[in-house]
Amino acid sequence: MDAYRAIVTKRDTRKFSPEPIPEPVLTRILQAGRMAGSSKNTQPVRAILVTEPARKEEIASCGQFATHVPACAAAIAVVLTPGGGAFDAGRAAQNMMVAAWAEGVTSCPTSMHDAACANRVLGLPEGHSVAIVLAMGYPEAGTSVNLGRARIPLDDFVHSDHWRGEGAGG
Ligand SMILES: Cc1cc2nc3c(=O)[nH]c(=O)nc-3n(C[C@H](O)[C@H](O)[C@H](O)COP(=O)(O)O)c2cc1C
Repeated sequence: MDAYRAIVTKRDTRKFSPEPIPEPVLTRILQAGRMAGSSKNTQPVRAILVTEPARKEEIASCGQFATHVPACAAAIAVVLTPGGGAFDAGRAAQNMMVAAWAEGVTSCPTSMHDAACANRVLGLPEGHSVAIVLAMGYPEAGTSVNLGRARIPLDDFVHSDHWRGEGAGG
């Protein structure tokens, strides 16, 4: 799959096959996260690879919409070290999800609404935080990875030279 196809066909899915993700595939996914650029190359992002069933259950209990996490083959917690920004985490997270999808591994970014719970479960030091948890696995057989959630038209997404529409300033 070329990069553009992987990007535009990537959908967030929550049903996984029990098939494990082979080590070399996981390594490529994690490398894709490591290679993301960061503000001033501060590299504030770390990844915690969670495959233990009990730990996945615990992580799931920290999110309000995370019931799919225990069934994933691997959960990757995207962690920010002190001073790291959300954009740094987002770049690494999307790199990993797109690289995974290019290998046929689907994923769902999952919010940890109870941040203290996620910090405790993952044993994070003071000042570190979980930006997002990526639930990953091969898609469940017979389940479409595209649930049909539409995107806004390109014309609404792109504004030329200046904000357009309601509330636009002079
Ligand atoms: C920052 C962020 C947080 C998200 N948190 C959750 C979550 O906690 N649980 C969940 O099931 N999906 C979560 N999602 C996935 C969104 O629901 C999904 O991106 C959106 O519905 C589009 O889905 P699609 O790519 O399948 O069209 C999150 C996505 C983002 C970008």
